[in-house]
Amino acid sequence: MKGIILAGGKGTRLYPSTLAISKQLLPIYDKPMIYYPLSILMLADIREILIISTPEDIEQYKRLLGDGSQYGLKLEYEIQEKPRGLAEAFIIGENFIGEDNVCLILGDNVFYGGGITLALEEASKIQEGAMIFGYYVENPRAFGVAEINKNGDVISLEEKPQNPKSNYAVPGLYFYDNSVVSIAKSVEPSARNELEITAVNNEYLKKNKLKLIALGRGLTWLDTGTVENLNKASQFVGAIQSQHGRYVACLEEIAYNKGYITLEQLQERGELLKASDYGQYILNLYEKESERRNVR
Ligand code: TTP
Repeated sequence: MKGIILAGGKGTRLYPSTLAISKQLLPIYDKPMIYYPLSILMLADIREILIISTPEDIEQYKRLLGDGSQYGLKLEYEIQEKPRGLAEAFIIGENFIGEDNVCLILGDNVFYGGGITLALEEASKIQEGAMIFGYYVENPRAFGVAEINKNGDVISLEEKPQNPKSNYAVPGLYFYDNSVVSIAKSVEPSARNELEITAVNNEYLKKNKLKLIALGRGLTWLDTGTVENLNKASQFVGAIQSQHGRYVACLEEIAYNKGYITLEQLQERGELLKASDYGQYILNLYEKESERRNVR
């Protein structure tokens, strides 16, 4: 399974903050926004990842994340010339995807808490069809909305409906078999001139190949596209980290725990970042692990 992070767009709802910088590079509490979706792909055991951004911003992502070897990942980069919709990711990423299945995550989506790892494990096992998620929200009008029957099957999917048929919003995390590439190519642009992910999902639904995992209330999903939500997300991450003393989306920690990087690599990263609490957290982890292994 390969992964794509879509980190383009204009970020107009965050103007003026995003006039000169890509939204997904803005910090959520203590780290760039893109760390959060990247951590989700890593938790899903996806190590080959394509980052898509705008022609103006792509170099900054390369500077931030490089080839990914510091996290034991293989990162590639592509440009989306214009924000022509989420489904364009599969057309831009066609060569990268090759014969594999693929997971798409939006660069401004944050997931945290109970059951996310299990949900990711289940979704990443998908052989055929598509797997999306449903998350109960008070006002689903701003999202793709899934109508679900008693058995949890999807009956309908609508993009930003005026009169939503349910409270289940579809977060920006989707798993697909390889046919998503040809489906994305066949989708017509919507009235707002975008290749809609909901149109892709509706194709799977028509073929009876769309599954949905309902995310429980122990799990938090935050879409950070507005000033209010961006601030809420920062407060949330800050509160979790100080309460638990454990970090949300510390890429080095996940990479080490998954065996993608060595203890020495963990130390190197900690040294590089040690002026910040994030770096100190990594160094602490390194100390604890060294003691545990008794290598010092
Ligand atoms: P949106 O939040 O829908 O769009 P945006 O980021 O441009 O923000 P705004 O509405 O404030 O102008 O995008 C959701 C995510 O998908 C976000 O991480 C940006 C990304 N995206 C792309 O990379 N390319 C696209 O064509 C679109 C539509 C979104």
